[in-house]
Amino acid sequence: MTSSTSEKLSSAQVSELTAHLTYGTWRRQKGWSPLHIVDAEGCYFVDAAGKKYLDFSAQLMCVTLGHKNRAVIEAIQQQAERLAFIGPGYATQVRAELAELLTEVLPKGLTKYFFATSGTEANEAAFKIARMYTGKTKIISRYRSYHGSTMGSIAATGDPRRWAMEPAGKIPGVIFAPEVNCYKCPIGHTYPGCNIACAEYVEHMIANESDVAAVIVEPVVGTNGVLIPPKEYMPRLRQICDAHGVLLIADEVMSGWCRTGKWFAMDNWNVVPDILTTAKGITNAAIPLGLCATNEKIAAHFEDHFFSHGHTYEAHPLTLAPAIASINEMKRLKLNERATEMGAYLGEKLMALKPRHRSIGDVRGIGMFWAVDLVKNQQKKNPFNTGEEKLAGKPLVVDRIAAKMMGNGVFIQAWMSHFVIAPPLIISKDEIDRGVAALDEALALADAEVEA
Ligand SMILES: Cc1ncc(COP(=O)(O)O)c(C=O)c1O
Repeated sequence: MTSSTSEKLSSAQVSELTAHLTYGTWRRQKGWSPLHIVDAEGCYFVDAAGKKYLDFSAQLMCVTLGHKNRAVIEAIQQQAERLAFIGPGYATQVRAELAELLTEVLPKGLTKYFFATSGTEANEAAFKIARMYTGKTKIISRYRSYHGSTMGSIAATGDPRRWAMEPAGKIPGVIFAPEVNCYKCPIGHTYPGCNIACAEYVEHMIANESDVAAVIVEPVVGTNGVLIPPKEYMPRLRQICDAHGVLLIADEVMSGWCRTGKWFAMDNWNVVPDILTTAKGITNAAIPLGLCATNEKIAAHFEDHFFSHGHTYEAHPLTLAPAIASINEMKRLKLNERATEMGAYLGEKLMALKPRHRSIGDVRGIGMFWAVDLVKNQQKKNPFNTGEEKLAGKPLVVDRIAAKMMGNGVFIQAWMSHFVIAPPLIISKDEIDRGVAALDEALALADAEVEA
């Protein structure tokens, strides 16, 4: 790995110009002082001073194969030489090849594809397709969710990132159901005695709303805390949607691509959605690509109906070539098996932290996708910070812990009152030990603030 700074600008200038002239996302701008990163390889990235950081969350849970995967880099290079761009109205070798490969790895029956350039665009496509296909309008989403930042996807986002857009900056017709959260059920139940009331309530909503086109779920909720549904939930949701002629959309932007030990999280319950959206790991995040995959019935509808959607960069050849390389790498490296095996090791290590820290409320995960949930009080399960505090720019306990870990050379994603631990799937046991040790040490900050 190199660690040289840019020749034109000093490192201080790079950080200053970045903060001064560009937006830092999802934050107040004052006080933003971004770290200058010069390189990344495997499970590490490097700052301008040459300090190496273990990437314990694969950046935004997206660098699944690890940084600088050679096959992905070469695919981009070769495609740039061969055919960097042609409009979406043409057939290309990469488009055909990737589409064929997708029929192999996606849940069976999802055989027609729309390529966009981000997760949020994939969801915008899903909403438009669902509305065009069903002729209905409403979308049911869940509160603990994130589906993207554009007008449709932010409307379907349950977490506080939506609030600034209420009500004018989002599409109408989105309503929210309670999420699945067996640690802290939003409707006060306990599994399994609950008979998955959170799924049954979705049926109650559909029956009483009318005009519902689709239900969108993150099969395993990502940023909002790795919420894993009990085994009955997805099959029941599938039944409910079928009974009411409502489409089921699985947003697998974060949970797809071997993260949970399966190609897609829905595969854990053998449930096939009508529409599956994804992005992030599809190219190892090396090039922006989003995918909206639909079933044959939806595809058939558009044989004789106008498909009223598209982008200049739809099926952009440069975005498709690294997806082929990434999928082949995932197969070669047997990442599903690896996520299951190493994920179990990671889980064991994280679980072992719980009895040692009064601030840990819950540790949960599946495959290489884990959350450590912090609470001020283990009985009451109340979080250290809230959405209101995040938006108000209040320093959050989890951010202080993440900063301390960065000091120790470990990067972790913090959100509100929990961490999402989702390293590249190539991580070793030693690296897991190192990441968990850094978290163990930094958690003293939260333990000191637990309610007496
Ligand atoms: C579940 C989920 N859906 C959609 C998105 C939006 O994807 P993008 O940031 O590529 O637009 C994200 C991003 O984190 C996500 O986690």
